[in-house]
Amino acid sequence: MRLRDCHNFHDFRKLAKRRLPGPIFNYIDGAADDEVTHRRNTASFERCDLVPNILRGVNSIDMSVTVMGQQLAMPVYCSPTALQRLFHHQGERAVAAAAEKFGTMFGVSSLGTVSLEELRRAHKNPQVYQFYFHKDRGLNRAMMQRAKEAGVEVMMLTVDSITGGNRERDLRTGFSIPFRLTLGGMLQFALKPMWGINYVTHERFRMPQLDAHIDMSIARYFTELMDPTMSWDDVTEMVKIWNGKFCLKGVMSVADAKRAAEIGCAGIVLSNHGGRQLDGSRAPFDQLAEVVDAVGDRIDVLMDGGVQRGTHVLKALSLGAKAVGVGRFHLFPLAAAGQAGVERALGLMRTEIERDMRLMGVASVGQLSRENLRFR
Ligand SMILES: Cc1cc2nc3c(=O)[nH]c(=O)nc-3n(C[C@H](O)[C@H](O)[C@H](O)COP(=O)(O)O)c2cc1C
Repeated sequence: MRLRDCHNFHDFRKLAKRRLPGPIFNYIDGAADDEVTHRRNTASFERCDLVPNILRGVNSIDMSVTVMGQQLAMPVYCSPTALQRLFHHQGERAVAAAAEKFGTMFGVSSLGTVSLEELRRAHKNPQVYQFYFHKDRGLNRAMMQRAKEAGVEVMMLTVDSITGGNRERDLRTGFSIPFRLTLGGMLQFALKPMWGINYVTHERFRMPQLDAHIDMSIARYFTELMDPTMSWDDVTEMVKIWNGKFCLKGVMSVADAKRAAEIGCAGIVLSNHGGRQLDGSRAPFDQLAEVVDAVGDRIDVLMDGGVQRGTHVLKALSLGAKAVGVGRFHLFPLAAAGQAGVERALGLMRTEIERDMRLMGVASVGQLSRENLRFR
């Protein structure tokens, strides 16, 4: 199987599985507890159907959107995710470059493996810096200052991860940073020597957003450095300090969405972290209409979770989402083939959206509305 044989999410996932040692593949693919929420994220799009209009004379398609003041050539962006250079040695460099090619936004995680400054210097497309809230308020301020100085456009505070999710696949393989593999996990690495050769022949693994501040495992980072008492007052202060486009990732309730609007957020991302945190929590798509009705006229409502198809994107936009984030949809292609993989995935997504908009009879994203949807 080669990159050109990949035509959809499942193909990329299959190719990534062939290339990656089992523990790393399962870190990406897995989710919390019984992974019910993870499965439901994609299944939720099946709850409704698209109702196309015909004979609308759709010639050229404009799928551009403006989100939190950023112009995106397509309504899909790459959500921030940790540890990308473990998945492919090009890591965040590949994702940022591919997103730039498609004129869209990319996220850099606090647990990213390339520095936000390097990525900001190398690429012109909008960059989101994903941030976790630490007990040490000085550290929070220093990290925000650093992002500001680098010229990051949007600060995205993840609010669904005040403690780590129960990822049982990782417990079985021993996946952690630094590695603490079980014997079975080690054997799985031995089966993929090419991954190991790439790992040792490229630049040393680092997490440059945090290197200067922490010297511990990711599990301890979540339990010891993150602040589970983070409150609305804390976030209000951060929004003021940032003094720019600020966004909360992981909002799900209407009450929280309203609060986010009140404290001056430019946007919220409805998200359950790809099902990796609270299993049994609602799918973002299922929650979208309520939240858009409550705050959609005041702030930009985005969503991520389970998006695999152009039609998923059109359904979310029809309900009022301003843009849609993808996680595994770009990570499996990254693992499968680096930048070429992410470019192929984003290209397929763009082609699907374009074709689907034409079939729906809409020439621009603004023409999508709930009239296009019927729930079963
Ligand atoms: C391997 C992996 C690592 C992730 N790391 C982070 C992270 O560091 N920070 C964060 O806010 N979200 C993180 N996420 C969540 C994504 O930003 C996004 O919310 C999620 O992947 C969307 O679901 P999807 O994978 O079904 O598209 C991660 C997701 C995955 C799959």
